[in-house]
Amino acid sequence: MSGITYDYMEIYLRGLIGESKGMTKELEDFAHENGVPIVQKETGKFLEFMVGMKKPLKILELGTAIGYSSILMYEASKTEPEIKTIERSEEMISLAKKNIERFNLSHKIQILEGDCLDILSELDEEFDLIFMDAGKGHYNHFLPHCLRLLNEDGIIIADNVLFRGMVPSQELVKRRKITIVKRMRTYLEMVNEDESLVTSVIPMGDGIAITRRR
Ligand SMILES: C[S@@+](CC[C@H](N)C(=O)[O-])C[C@H]1O[C@@H](n2cnc3c(N)ncnc32)[C@H](O)[C@@H]1O
Repeated sequence: MSGITYDYMEIYLRGLIGESKGMTKELEDFAHENGVPIVQKETGKFLEFMVGMKKPLKILELGTAIGYSSILMYEASKTEPEIKTIERSEEMISLAKKNIERFNLSHKIQILEGDCLDILSELDEEFDLIFMDAGKGHYNHFLPHCLRLLNEDGIIIADNVLFRGMVPSQELVKRRKITIVKRMRTYLEMVNEDESLVTSVIPMGDGIAITRRR
């Protein structure tokens, strides 16, 4: 039970998407067997759709893990975008590098090694699409940096914003997750209350917020 949508809905939608093939399926199997949290299937499809529509030339991702969503976004685009993706776990960085090499994308996907907040503070270039998928308890702290780094007509896609239903429902909140939940609520308030931004929150996967400038 995801706490966001009904199980029968998820099963049905995932059935429609069907099984991945080849090396993509191998990455998914590895992630599931080793407990690596990669984007859910319907979130992956949403990313593919958005990348296809937005046609970004530069993408910034927060949270590489094994490189799955970076590779997925690259493969879904027809614009051969330059992707920068931030990761702090040495183990994940090593796995992601191997996977990116297997897809022959080392010249297109660059891993920025370190903590998101440190790296975001140092970055000084613009991106067409920013995908936030790391440090759920810090999206509110990442946001000002992401807005500074976002192109005039760029979009920010933030995953896990409903966090297993805990963000909208106080009844579902686990004690040890209170800080993350409070900060995620702050993030959603920031992107919804800022009149210079337009945000749509989609109760899909673990909850997605998509934001652009008005
Ligand atoms: C949900 S996973 C990313 C999954 C990936 N986007 C995908 O779908 O294939 C989150 C990753 O972010 C990393 N991470 C968490 N907090 C971070 C931070 N503050 N700075 C850098 N990396 C972080 C974790 O080590 C983990 O590998």
